Amino acid sequence: MYIVQVAMLQRRIGCAPDELDTPCLTLELSLLEHNIERMASLARGAGVALRPHAKTHKLVEVAERQLAAGSDGLTVAKLGEAEVFAEHGIGNLLVAYPLWGEQKWRRLCALAEQAEVRVAADSAQVCEGISAAAQAHGVVVAVRIEVDTGYGRCGVQDASEAAALAAVVERLPGLRLAGVMSFAGQTYGAPDGVGNAARSDAERLVEVASALREGGFDTPEVSIGSTPSAAHIAKLKGITEFRPGTYVFSDRDQAALGWGTLDDCALRLTATVVSRPTRDRAVIDAGTKSLSSDRATHADGWGTIVGHPSWALSWLNEEHGVIALPPGEDPSIGTIVEIIPNHACGMLNLHDWVAVVRDGEVRDWWPVAARGRVS
Ligand SMILES: Cc1ncc(COP(=O)(O)O)c(C=O)c1O
Repeated sequence: MYIVQVAMLQRRIGCAPDELDTPCLTLELSLLEHNIERMASLARGAGVALRPHAKTHKLVEVAERQLAAGSDGLTVAKLGEAEVFAEHGIGNLLVAYPLWGEQKWRRLCALAEQAEVRVAADSAQVCEGISAAAQAHGVVVAVRIEVDTGYGRCGVQDASEAAALAAVVERLPGLRLAGVMSFAGQTYGAPDGVGNAARSDAERLVEVASALREGGFDTPEVSIGSTPSAAHIAKLKGITEFRPGTYVFSDRDQAALGWGTLDDCALRLTATVVSRPTRDRAVIDAGTKSLSSDRATHADGWGTIVGHPSWALSWLNEEHGVIALPPGEDPSIGTIVEIIPNHACGMLNLHDWVAVVRDGEVRDWWPVAARGRVS
């Protein structure tokens, strides 16, 4: 009873966001809808299917809005995330991660009984494991060969490695070759511009897909992703699917790279000034436990404090955030601040609930259903 009362006090409805107990994640619904529609219309205009990466939000309510706006399905990084979305009736999922181990293969096949599932792979070993489990379960699992187009993470390195793996997939029972995919993480730090990095990612993947087709492998799906690439999607010829993630909230990183501006960032952390030890320092009740320790590409702080561009969130401990104040700025203890994070994705994994805001009022609370699903 006591716990229920506390939860009700913490999840107030009908108040302003700055009346909430802090630290607290807030989500501005109109900006969320704007970001979802903006990406959906870019993909529609380019004639490309959309499969948003749901690791960013982990929220069933956001997934449903993405699907309603025309997405074909979702991408996830973790099987556990896929299981949560499938439990909530989302029936088309790509696990964009190389899955290793009997338990994962069994879980993947159980998922394939519930939903239309694709999985990424870049090795014969992973494909062999999935194939054995698929035979035992009597399912067929669709495999996308992951290609490293320049990010330097997972993926086969060239068309001949892709062809060798495609031959393995075709030979193994219980598997179906669905296509190829890449992740253009290099668009984040591209020295010669996001557009060039996005183009080269798509060109390299399309080249591999063409080589596979010439080699007799059916390769219908050619999937790339990353929010920064989105502005260039119309120029990326030959791809069939786009998998952006962070666009849905946006953050300081994306605004700096050109996905809208800071005003388009839908996700904020509300925090309170709890200490003013010196004239030039304010301490807030939010540290890495609520903002994450992902500083992304920013050397100058851990987020933007809305309405106070001269205040620098200069360092974080687990529960403390230290704001460096310029002369003349004097927030009192109790001042509420709203922070736009450098990188939104890691934050959702830290919170049970998100306060949903429209027109300056908290209208709802959404549970972060897939948080903590790290395996
Ligand atoms: C495989 C894969 N696809 C798509 C994305 C989405 O990228 P972004 O968040 O830049 O939109 C990610 C992000 O890490 C990813 O790892």
